[in-house]
Amino acid sequence: MSASGSVGQRDAEGKPTVFSGIQPTGIVHVGNYVGAIRNWASMLDDYDCTFCVVDLHAMTVPYDAGDMQSRVFETFAMNVAGGLDPDRCRLFVQSHVPEVTELCWILFSCTAMGDLSRMTQFKEKSEKLKGQINAGLFAYPVLMAADILLYRAGVVPVGDDQTQHLEFAREVARRFNTRFGDTFPEPEPLFSDVPRLMGLDNKAKMSKTLNNYISLLDEPEEIWAKLSTAATDPARIRRGDPGTPEICNIFTMHQAFSPAEDTEWAANGCRTADIGCLDCKRRLADSMAAELAPILEKYRGLISRPDHVRHLMDEGAAACRGIAQKTLEEVRQRIGVR
Ligand code: TRP
Repeated sequence: MSASGSVGQRDAEGKPTVFSGIQPTGIVHVGNYVGAIRNWASMLDDYDCTFCVVDLHAMTVPYDAGDMQSRVFETFAMNVAGGLDPDRCRLFVQSHVPEVTELCWILFSCTAMGDLSRMTQFKEKSEKLKGQINAGLFAYPVLMAADILLYRAGVVPVGDDQTQHLEFAREVARRFNTRFGDTFPEPEPLFSDVPRLMGLDNKAKMSKTLNNYISLLDEPEEIWAKLSTAATDPARIRRGDPGTPEICNIFTMHQAFSPAEDTEWAANGCRTADIGCLDCKRRLADSMAAELAPILEKYRGLISRPDHVRHLMDEGAAACRGIAQKTLEEVRQRIGVR
């Protein structure tokens, strides 16, 4: 039996179960790569991992249905290319394992309306979407809880913007367990120590909608074109002006992409004004391009074989379906249906 309050389910080798989800934005930027894909890829050896492209979550905001298939396909392929080797984890598309929607419905009855109305992300999104808010957007965290609980994940690597959703998932697990008996572990968030990349404007987080990003698919020339005009520490007006690396997004990106000695070179050179911002950016562009080139190549190889990608999706879904059905069988018994 699963034990509530423990690290949750473990696989046959005793590795804790990890679950996380990524939005099917189609374009994966280097911020997503560093914060999610590369970070998750680093967990493959030590955890029993399941990762999901969350297309059902994506329909809670207005979108073009004609684009969804390609967004999901490209995001999935980008995750594989970025290091989520399907032989070492379960990678699947949310809607391909529809069991999650049944669990979501069941969890609605373990959800307090008040908890949902307190969600910061809901408040922010509904502010932007004035007049176009649907119940799916309101219930978004319940579907997310269903994602996690369906696989009885004990560890959920997320960015700090998801802390509240994770706390909510724990609350739902507790309520279910209290009402129907110990069934779900309470999932723990796992925050990565990689910094969140700001956008090229250095004003907001890197995001697709703000168009302030470097894509995983940018060629070296595009990377350089974008970096060369990117914002730096505003104190460095002239080349001889010293700067503060800690507040410069270019430095943050060095930390994410460059070898330690280059990161040190950038920090010292910035403080002493021994290097100019363009020198610093040039070296960053080289490290970034070096890391992204093989990903781009792998991605091109994958999308040139769409049937192979669809086969990987099917395999991921099949592996997840077995686990999902087992959980649901137990849940149905617990709640007294069937
Ligand atoms: N809400 C998450 C985000 O926007 C994506 C997500 C969906 C997720 N289901 C999940 C993350 C389950 C972790 C676990 O980033």
